[in-house]
Amino acid sequence: MLRSLLRKKAIGHIHQDSSLHRSLNAVDLTLMGIGAIIGAGVFVLTGIAAATKAGPAIVISYMIAGLASMFAALAYAELAASIGGTGSAYSYAYAGFGEFVAWLMGWNLLLEYTVAVSTVAIGWSGYVNNLLIALHCPLPPALVASPFEGGLFNLPAILIIAFLAIILCMGVKQSARFNAVIVMVKLATIGIFIVAAIPQVNFQYWHPFVPFGWNGIMQGAALVFFAYIGFDALSTAVEEALHPQRSIPIGIISSLIICTLVYILVSALLTSIVPYTTLNVPSPVADALLQLGYRGMAGLIAVGAIAGLTTVMLVMYYGLTRICLAMSRDGLLPITIATIHPSTRTPIRTIVSTGVIIALIAGLAPINRAAELVNIGTLAAFVFVSGGVIILRMTHPDLPRPFKLPFYPALPFLGVVFCVYLMINLPLITWWRFIIWTLIGIVIYFSYGRHHSELKGK
Ligand code: ALA
Repeated sequence: MLRSLLRKKAIGHIHQDSSLHRSLNAVDLTLMGIGAIIGAGVFVLTGIAAATKAGPAIVISYMIAGLASMFAALAYAELAASIGGTGSAYSYAYAGFGEFVAWLMGWNLLLEYTVAVSTVAIGWSGYVNNLLIALHCPLPPALVASPFEGGLFNLPAILIIAFLAIILCMGVKQSARFNAVIVMVKLATIGIFIVAAIPQVNFQYWHPFVPFGWNGIMQGAALVFFAYIGFDALSTAVEEALHPQRSIPIGIISSLIICTLVYILVSALLTSIVPYTTLNVPSPVADALLQLGYRGMAGLIAVGAIAGLTTVMLVMYYGLTRICLAMSRDGLLPITIATIHPSTRTPIRTIVSTGVIIALIAGLAPINRAAELVNIGTLAAFVFVSGGVIILRMTHPDLPRPFKLPFYPALPFLGVVFCVYLMINLPLITWWRFIIWTLIGIVIYFSYGRHHSELKGK
C-alpha cells in the first residue's frame, strides 16, 4: 500500500505543471530552520517564563523543551528522508494512517501555520509601531489596530504579509537568500546581547535557583516550547532541496541544535544579569540591557526582534503554501491552486490565496493571544510524526530509510509521551477551539475531499 502510494504520488498524480525547483542546500535549510525557530519565543516568552514559572531554572526548562523538540525533530528527519512529500506531517500521516487521518493532520497544520503567521504579523506590527514612535513618526492609531480594538485595520501587519508573499512568489532560492540576510541580523543582535551580558554576570541572582520547584520548571518548559516551533516547516522543503535525503535531516537537526544552544546561553545570561523577578515584561532582553544602562544596545535588540519575527513568518508562510500544495495535488483542496508558475517555479496561486487569508486575519482579527492554539496544533503533529515512525517501522520494515533515528523505539516513544503531556497541560479553551476546528474539518472532508480525492481507490 505505502509503496504503491509513494509511486502514484511520484509518477502519475503529480501534475506536469506542479513540480517545484530544486535549489536549496543544507546551509540554506539550516538557515531557514534558524529563521523559523528564533523569534517571539526567546525575545518575549523567556522573561515571562523566568519571572512567573521557573525562575533562574528557566535554563533547565529550555533544556527540557529542547530535548522534547529533538525527539520530534529526529522523527521528522527520518520520515522526511524516507517518505518525503512537500506536505510534511500530512504526507507522513497519509502513508502511515490513510487519507482521513492525513486530511485531519493537514487541516490541523493549515490552522497551526495560518494562526502562527497571523499572530506573529500582529506582534511584528507592534514592534514596528514602537520603533516608529521612538523615531517620532508614528502611524495613526486607527491604522495599527483591528476593528475589535477600536481601529480600522492593522496596516503594518497586512503590508508585511504582502511583502513576504512577493518574496515567496519570486522563487525559493530568492526567499532563502532573503532569509539568510535577516537571520544574520538576528544572530548578530543575539551576539551583541551575549557580549554585553557576559561581563555583567552576577551569580548572586541565581539564589534561589529553583524558586517554583520542579512544577515550575515543567510549566516553564511547556511555555517556552513555543520558542522551538518552526523546524517542522523545513520538512515541507523536500521537493525543493538538493539531495533531500541528506540535506533535510542535516537542516532540521543542526538548526535545532544551534537554537537550543543559543536559548540556553541567552536564558542563563538573562537571569544572571538582572533579578528574574524583573523580567515579566514584553521585551525582557532589551529591558535587561536597559536596567544595566545600555540604552543604544536595547534599541538594537528591538531591531533584532523585528528581524527574528520576519523570518519566522517567512518560513512558516512558506511551509503553509507547501502543505496546501500537497493537499490540493491530492485533490483534498481545489486542484486549481496547485499550479506552479513556469518561470518562478513557485505556487503563486497558493501563495496569493493563503496570503489573502493571513492578511485578513492579521489585519482585522483580535487574535494576538493565540499562541496556545499554535502549540496544540504543533504538538498534535509531533505526536503523529513520532507515532508514525513506530507504526511504519512495524508495518514497513523494508522501506528504505536513508536516515534512521537512534535509540528506537525509546526515542519516538518518548516523543509521543512528552508531547501528549504538554498537550494535556494546555488550557481547556484551547482544546475546545482545537476540537471545533477538527469537527469543521471532518464536515469538509465528507462533503468535499472524499469525492475529489485523486488517490483514493485508484
Ligand atoms: N519559534 C517561533 C518563535 O519563537 C515560533 O517565534
